[in-house]
Amino acid sequence: MTSKGSTFNLTPLIRCLKVIMNVIEQGGRFRIGGELEVHRLAYGALHLLDVGPDAFGPPAPNVDPSAILRRVVELGIDLIDTADVYGPGTNELQISKALHPYPDRVTISTKGCLTRSRPGELTPHYDRGHIRSAVEGSLRRLKLEQIAVWTLHHVDPTTPIEDVVGTLADLRHEGKLRHIGLSKASTDQLARARAIAPISMVQNRYNVADRRDDAVLNYCEQHGIGFMAFFPLASGRFDRLRACVGDVAAQRGVSIQQIALAWLLQRSPVLIPIPGTRHFAELEDNVAACAIQLGVDEVAQINARYGDLPPIAADPSPIKPAEPPPTGASAR
Ligand SMILES: NC(=O)c1ccc[n+]([C@@H]2O[C@H](COP(=O)([O-])OP(=O)(O)OC[C@H]3O[C@@H](n4cnc5c(N)ncnc54)[C@H](OP(=O)(O)O)[C@@H]3O)[C@@H](O)[C@H]2O)c1
Repeated sequence: MTSKGSTFNLTPLIRCLKVIMNVIEQGGRFRIGGELEVHRLAYGALHLLDVGPDAFGPPAPNVDPSAILRRVVELGIDLIDTADVYGPGTNELQISKALHPYPDRVTISTKGCLTRSRPGELTPHYDRGHIRSAVEGSLRRLKLEQIAVWTLHHVDPTTPIEDVVGTLADLRHEGKLRHIGLSKASTDQLARARAIAPISMVQNRYNVADRRDDAVLNYCEQHGIGFMAFFPLASGRFDRLRACVGDVAAQRGVSIQQIALAWLLQRSPVLIPIPGTRHFAELEDNVAACAIQLGVDEVAQINARYGDLPPIAADPSPIKPAEPPPTGASAR
């Protein structure tokens, strides 16, 4: 594809880009709410911050978030996950700074309802005023007119889900958000929420070595709801992951992270892993996982290793129980 008078040949570059785009294609696609199509391997932007024991911090040192995010898009990833509390606000601003005006095919998913009350502690808010201003704040920081997927960051066991989803349904009717998601939801809460408004996405913890939400994933598959798996790589705590997939990774000569992601992509057609990284090489490694097709014997071997693992110890949660709304105030 040399143009007259030019010696610069674009053909190898275009061929190379096509190969890269084809890799992400092999991970499959999912239609959010039956209409908004994305590749199933997505990107979680949280690790562009300095995430420490104190939950979500300032921008990670020595990282160029814009360069990473542009590479994410170049590699064909078209779904990027963030939350208003990441920073707070900083992670959404990193995304709009890097990618606005967004290419047509890029979908941003954000979350809200949590605030950081003090170091290491998050407080959920479910009242109408907070949810509305959280959505409006994200719209402003992300420079969007509509949020493609807005997810309630924490479904509280004691707050009626119907009230919160009612508020989200109103915001959807106003056009401020296109799809509603729920994070850390049970099947019961999902069923109750779906009686009020369509729920297009769930965002729960899930990986090859932590399958406590198998029932929720099966429910999502049955109802065509996307299931974004957070901590798809166990948030960098790789011991259990290695115990499950180490042998298969060694036999194939690839990384344990790649096998962990390939297993997730094969686990269910509604499953969308959102691995996070601040390193180009790891990002490329993760995308390359889309081209790995595990054999029946390999999956059986991984599942047998999983069966041998000890039960997972419950993590102390940084999220405080929700406070009841002020007397006389309606949650809606
Ligand atoms: N809904 C919720 O409550 C919730 C909670 C937590 C997270 N999330 C979402 O889920 C996303 C993913 O969570 P996460 O990032 O904590 O967990 P993760 O994706 O399971 O793991 C990220 C960690 O793995 C490392 N890593 C990534 N790819 C690697 C590779 N190929 N080789 C070696 N190491 C690799 C990263 O290292 P480096 O950073 O050093 O590159 C980082 O330390 C977040 O970005 C966020 O969007 C949601």
